[in-house]
Amino acid sequence: ILQRVLALVIGYFCGCFVTGYFYGKLQKVDIRTMGSGNAGTTNTLRNLGWKAGAVTFLGDCFKCVLAICLVRVLFRKDGADMLKLLELYAGFGAILGHNFPFYLKFKGGKGIACTAGLLVAFCPFEIPVCLALFVLAVAITRYVSVGSILVVLSFLLQTVIFGQMGWFHVSEGYLPELYILSAVITGMAIWRHKSNIGRLMHGTENKFSMKHKS
Ligand code: G3P
Repeated sequence: ILQRVLALVIGYFCGCFVTGYFYGKLQKVDIRTMGSGNAGTTNTLRNLGWKAGAVTFLGDCFKCVLAICLVRVLFRKDGADMLKLLELYAGFGAILGHNFPFYLKFKGGKGIACTAGLLVAFCPFEIPVCLALFVLAVAITRYVSVGSILVVLSFLLQTVIFGQMGWFHVSEGYLPELYILSAVITGMAIWRHKSNIGRLMHGTENKFSMKHKS
């Protein structure tokens, strides 16, 4: 239990670096008061331009990978199964830190770029599938939120289908925890999109467009 909590805490503090918020601060704006009010990639892209969106995505993705690498080094003496699980806790912690940063009154982002960090660290071969799904969904609907929700659902599905073969290789005993964590990560991402889902149902969701051209 203690190791899991430690991995979660390490992840949380890495995740607390909300890239879009700091990028906005450098531009003397609070991204959380603009557009959808979200401190993530889409809203920074929408309001501050391509460069801001790219930096935000890379920063948020990287901090999740960093958390996983830190735990990989710190707990390297643990068994391979336990280490994998602790890495997943670190990634989950990073998503929690991103979504609920303590110094921003727990108002952060929705965790999609962080979840992409999980893919980078654990299952890079799932990236093309997720990317294709995302691009297709956004191209067809013009809603980034639809792409994000589909990607996290496919993350869960792929974890269940390929988890043991591709990226986890944990013994049977650890499997329920792996599935539960993956389901919680997916569930939280969908829950964080509840305002988007509400707008989608009322036909008022923001279609993807760039207010800021650069
Ligand atoms: O990853 C966040 C995206 O799915 C929605 O962003 O700003 O439209 O709420 P936003």
